[in-house]
Amino acid sequence: MSADKENLATKDVASLKESEAAEELARLVSEIAHHDRLYHSADAPEISDAQYDELRQRNDAIEARFPALKREDSPSERIGAVPTSGFKKVPHKVAMLSLGNAFSKEDVSEFLQRVCRFLSLSEIPMILAEPKIDGLSCALHYHHGKLVLAATRGDGNQGEDITANVATIADVPKSLAGSGWPEILEVRGEVYMERAAFQSFNAEQEAKSEKIFANPRNAAAGSLRQLDPKITAKRPLRFFGYAWGEVSQPLGKTLAQARAKLTDWGFTVTRPTTITSTLEELIAYYEGVLSSRAELPYDIDGIVYKVDRLDLQERLGFVSRAPRWAIAHKFPAEKAETILHEIHIQVGRTGSLTPVAHLEPITVGGVVVSRATLHNEDEIARKDIREGDHVIIQRAGDVIPQVVSVVAERRDGKSKPYSFPDTCPECGSHAVREEGEVVKRCTGGLICPAQAVERLKHFVGRQAFDIEGLGDKQVKFLFESGRIVRPGDIFRLEEADQRRADRLQNHPGWGKLSTENLFGAIEIRRGVSFDRFIYALGIRHVGRENARLLARNYGHPKAMLSALDAAADREGEAYQELLAIDGIGPIVADAVVAFFTEPHNREVVEDLITELAIEAFEIADTSGSPVAGKTVVFTGKLEAFSRDEAKARAETLGAKVAGSVSKKTDFLVAGPGAGSKAKKAEDLGIQVLSEDDWLKLIGDKV
Ligand code: IVH
Repeated sequence: MSADKENLATKDVASLKESEAAEELARLVSEIAHHDRLYHSADAPEISDAQYDELRQRNDAIEARFPALKREDSPSERIGAVPTSGFKKVPHKVAMLSLGNAFSKEDVSEFLQRVCRFLSLSEIPMILAEPKIDGLSCALHYHHGKLVLAATRGDGNQGEDITANVATIADVPKSLAGSGWPEILEVRGEVYMERAAFQSFNAEQEAKSEKIFANPRNAAAGSLRQLDPKITAKRPLRFFGYAWGEVSQPLGKTLAQARAKLTDWGFTVTRPTTITSTLEELIAYYEGVLSSRAELPYDIDGIVYKVDRLDLQERLGFVSRAPRWAIAHKFPAEKAETILHEIHIQVGRTGSLTPVAHLEPITVGGVVVSRATLHNEDEIARKDIREGDHVIIQRAGDVIPQVVSVVAERRDGKSKPYSFPDTCPECGSHAVREEGEVVKRCTGGLICPAQAVERLKHFVGRQAFDIEGLGDKQVKFLFESGRIVRPGDIFRLEEADQRRADRLQNHPGWGKLSTENLFGAIEIRRGVSFDRFIYALGIRHVGRENARLLARNYGHPKAMLSALDAAADREGEAYQELLAIDGIGPIVADAVVAFFTEPHNREVVEDLITELAIEAFEIADTSGSPVAGKTVVFTGKLEAFSRDEAKARAETLGAKVAGSVSKKTDFLVAGPGAGSKAKKAEDLGIQVLSEDDWLKLIGDKV
């Protein structure tokens, strides 16, 4: 820096001339951006946090004195490296998953048995139990002991960068204490607000006529989503650590050891905990925490049980979106009494008619509830629920609130029995209940606008295409105004909009900036993974997990389409291949075939393929794996591993595990007692391996 420039940089804001102020603002933009980059992407900030804050304060002070000079790219409009329009997306190297739920002692017992069965153990291994915190999960990344990134969970694969906000939480170490931390360490845990702090915070908000929150969790969420970290800094947020993601070195042999290390490094870990290997003691702990729940200063919604040994956790691995080594034992649902005013029918994506109770709003477990599901026609009749009744509703965790029963004593003779409609309230088509089904469905199919809108909502939803800016309201508007009729139209929206007289940006609630942001968000999503694509289609019975199984089996869309064409012949090979996918049974297989043989669906899919860049399904990094891409069938009794563990291991190595032998099978692993499968494999000339041969092949045994 020249002497003049240096003088300018240290000159008192009050004595700056206008031209000097403009020059200073320009310098500060690039200087702050430079330090943001160092802080977020490299490990080595050149200046202290205090010096950095000084730069930003100087920028703010100059802007306050010369508002007309405020630049479009001003750092006061940005937090860290995050533009004010939203938070930067960050991929999770290790997916952030959720937990399976248990609601009873039996469920917990089954969990323990599953663990033992999977690991072929005759005794329950040590289990650590800890409270399940009702907050928001967050991943904290440390490089060389310094906090470099904090991310929300998002959809589990991709979260949002909330570093600047999280850095304001006192419980979150900015630099790790102690020693011996791995170079790369990602600590996961929950951001939450204590109840007492929440109450005084809400009181302050009320006094200032600002937004008040229904419960501590919502308040914590709202605070983390502030675009200005100065606001977050004033919120009483806290953090508990309970897990980790990417680490360059193991944290110990057991969870208990890892927790001790996290504590040494400056984290607060969840408490109280217990560690035991009996069901009875786990349940006693659960009951104890449940009954003293009100004494804990923060909200919890259950207990999490986790296998303590980390090597066993590793072997257990994950299924679907949750670990096999942990489960959440939920506390019972909270209940409340209110009035049911009316019953409305909601039409779902597959035409299901769901009765929904419109209620006198009431707070249950800290959340205001004004709607609750009545499930179906039979449930209304069984519980004899009428419009105008006093009812008991309940809400547990994230589940949709339900109407449990009628308060019969409070019925005053004015309540009206409900007759379930025989036609779809949205399109007027007949509604029918197929034999053995409890759900009545609209038969309008493609002409039913409600179904079409629901399908589109599903398509753009968070688990599917995850298009930012396309919420329920926007989808409905775009459909009703004829802009988006089928999914492919989404990707032609911008182009079509340019040809229209009534541009989207001129409609109330849209505007130029949000329209442009939406077009940008759509563009980004043209590249989509094959399993997300399949899930987004909304095929009956095909959720995330089945979509993944299909993607894994077929690899890419063209192969899937031609295989499923052929699968229309139920006697043929292709249908057998579909059924042989481990985890896909006849109901799912039939739904998949039915979907793809329907000409309209076919058009929708082909139209999408031309618009999108669908990534072929990526099989786990198995470079060097001798069984990558091979199809394996296990049969008979296995000695070294349980059948489930053997399958999971094969899949980790990139093999496909099938349930039955066909021409596509590469290996049959046959233990003692193998029967017809071994015979069929021999007939087809397929290589049959003993368990030992298999273990040698995959390098688990020498
Ligand atoms: S362990 C692989 N422990 O609950 C998943 N999760 O319903 C490891 N949660 O996404 C999670 N308290 O946000 C774990 N003591 C605790 C927890 C906890 C709250 C949250 C977490 C998770 C969600 C699943």
